[in-house]
Amino acid sequence: MSHTSELQAELDSAARAYEEFASRGLKLDITRGKPSSEQLDLAAGLLDAVSGDDVKTPSGIDTRNYGGLEGIVELRELFSPLLKVPTDQLLAGGNASLSLMAQTLTFAILHGTANSSRPWGQGPHKLLCPVPGYDRHFTLAESLGFELLSIPMDDEGPIVAEAQRLAEDESVKGMWLVPMYSNPTGISISAKRAAELAAMPAAAPDFTLLWDNAYGLHHLRPEHAEVIDILSLCAEAGNPERPWIFASTSKITHAGAGVSFFGAGPDTIGWVRANLGKISIGPDKINQLRHLRFFGDAAGVEAHMRKHAEVIAPKFDAVLSTLESELGGRDLAQWTHPDGGYFITLTTMEGTADRIVKLAAEAGVKLTPAGATHPYGLDPLNNVIRIAPTMPTADEVELAAQGLVACVKLASYEKLLAG
Ligand SMILES: Cc1ncc(COP(=O)(O)O)c(C=O)c1O
Repeated sequence: MSHTSELQAELDSAARAYEEFASRGLKLDITRGKPSSEQLDLAAGLLDAVSGDDVKTPSGIDTRNYGGLEGIVELRELFSPLLKVPTDQLLAGGNASLSLMAQTLTFAILHGTANSSRPWGQGPHKLLCPVPGYDRHFTLAESLGFELLSIPMDDEGPIVAEAQRLAEDESVKGMWLVPMYSNPTGISISAKRAAELAAMPAAAPDFTLLWDNAYGLHHLRPEHAEVIDILSLCAEAGNPERPWIFASTSKITHAGAGVSFFGAGPDTIGWVRANLGKISIGPDKINQLRHLRFFGDAAGVEAHMRKHAEVIAPKFDAVLSTLESELGGRDLAQWTHPDGGYFITLTTMEGTADRIVKLAAEAGVKLTPAGATHPYGLDPLNNVIRIAPTMPTADEVELAAQGLVACVKLASYEKLLAG
């Protein structure tokens, strides 16, 4: 059999498998990294944690009233060791860390930062974007007028030489980073790479690491990476104000009703506090008290995260084993093997991601649009697909993965035959 007829046979078989899958008329969705209802139920106790006349913090603050801009101290103390941020450098806010990112970036654009009184918005302002990355980081920054510069990553994190080269431009104000179980690759930055970024020369006096530790506590396996103390690394390197640390309980308790956190160097905390004080009289302290009572202590958070892992690790494993059994050893695609977070990244043959997403949609499997993992929605190699396994049931996820591999095979053999 010639090479071409072998490929034709593979294509015919892939087309039959695809048609068979599509004819089942399924409706599956592995687009957004949302927790499932089963996960949300794990924090049901939160809703009863504060009631009636029982509204004071241990230090006697009435959580119903205005005030307490930095968030209740006991919850900041509880999360301080988990996020590796000293309590007095950690703010607890409202329900979305994304809003804190928008606010702090807006303050910098309008007013400058703790390290420079020159507003970023006074000239061109650019951000480094390790790719593939989180689509909302990119759309937020684009909407605020940043130019987005992609930089490559390997399995230890962003490539520092490339970041350093681009940061020689004074208008490069910072860099997005999801240090643990990154969205969408699931990769965690190494301590060595973090130290290099902490010390990296940059032309802007207030070059900032937008350290979005959204998944720092979201381990899937008993053996896991540890949160990196980026504040100390930056302080030791002489850049104490470089990291802006973001985190939230969105994927710990209730995605729409959690608590967000902001950690930074002492001057930056003062700067953020001063700016926040002009747009808010204080966060939702009742919800913060609910979280404090629900967890009790840091060990309570860790125990709670193990319950999440019990629910979602089988879903990740269902996707990974389907990819392995159907695509393993075929050279058609590679995929990440995350030990935490919410996503798996599938890297397909160049030029096929949009075709696969379209085929999948037509067969009843909704995937994140191709390109969403890159600035401006443009994946130059058109080969990155983000898989979010948490929301559907384990059975649905397995079916979705089977549909996806049928699409990968079909699009790949079409491409190979087209030469
Ligand atoms: C990397 C990353 N950061 C932030 C968020 C959103 O966080 P929050 O709900 O705290 O706004 C997400 C949600 O998917 C995320 O993946």
